[in-house]
Amino acid sequence: MRLEDEFLRKSSGAQLVAKKNNLPSKKGKRRKRRPDCMPSVVQRLFDTCKAVFAEGTAGFVPPPEDVARIRSILDSMKPADVGLSPKLPYFKSIENGGPPPITYLHVYECPEFSIGIFCLPPSAVLPLHNHPGMTVFSKLLLGSMHIKSYDWVVVSQDSHEPSHVDLPSGERLAKVKTDDVFTAPCETSILYPSSGGNMHCFTAKTACVVLDVLGPPYSDPERNCTYYYAHAYAKYAGESGLDLGEGEGYSWLQERAGQPEELLVVGAKYRGPNIVED
Ligand SMILES: [Fe+2]
Repeated sequence: MRLEDEFLRKSSGAQLVAKKNNLPSKKGKRRKRRPDCMPSVVQRLFDTCKAVFAEGTAGFVPPPEDVARIRSILDSMKPADVGLSPKLPYFKSIENGGPPPITYLHVYECPEFSIGIFCLPPSAVLPLHNHPGMTVFSKLLLGSMHIKSYDWVVVSQDSHEPSHVDLPSGERLAKVKTDDVFTAPCETSILYPSSGGNMHCFTAKTACVVLDVLGPPYSDPERNCTYYYAHAYAKYAGESGLDLGEGEGYSWLQERAGQPEELLVVGAKYRGPNIVED
């Protein structure tokens, strides 16, 4: 599933404002110009992503200096930069008999990249999911969050091409990249198409805000989001054909069908600084 897709229609966000700003006015038919004042940090993030991901396609990885440009902007960001504060209702625990609702604020999307914000109340979970062919920057703006991430194990045997380690029953071997609690302010997490923890699960220990930059975004059908169950390595010990001992740090990931029942995401309008496109 595409988390973002579901909410594009519901929450217009800055993207629509930006496009509207590019339309000629009814009277003068003059394009609205950027204000002369200092651009907001969101505007600087947008401008930098626009440049870095200009030629971005699936599998594209920005060069290190471009990754550093985006990271340095994100590292400096705070909830107020995107119009958020812990007092907003998105972060309250609600007794609804179901999973804690996660609020998604759509900021911007084009074919090359997207910017979006997830607001999680305490104990909310973004289940284990992948980012096919993407480079993703995740900046924790508020709260404490447990992040567990994995990358696929790739092996080279004899003269064969490197390949994944798959069981006949469909599970695929993955190696844990991150298994830790992060507390804002902290550095931006970055994942890549085949490294950095491309599959991850977020669990809010407190109320949390995560800003995601996806390059390129999810796109149906070529870059759908897949959800997974994680099984202990020991469950299928001996079936990998590899000598991994106790298999510490390894798991078998099993694809889930459809959207996880424990995931509830609602869209809301992004009310932070507008983005102006040239
Ligand atoms: Fe993600």
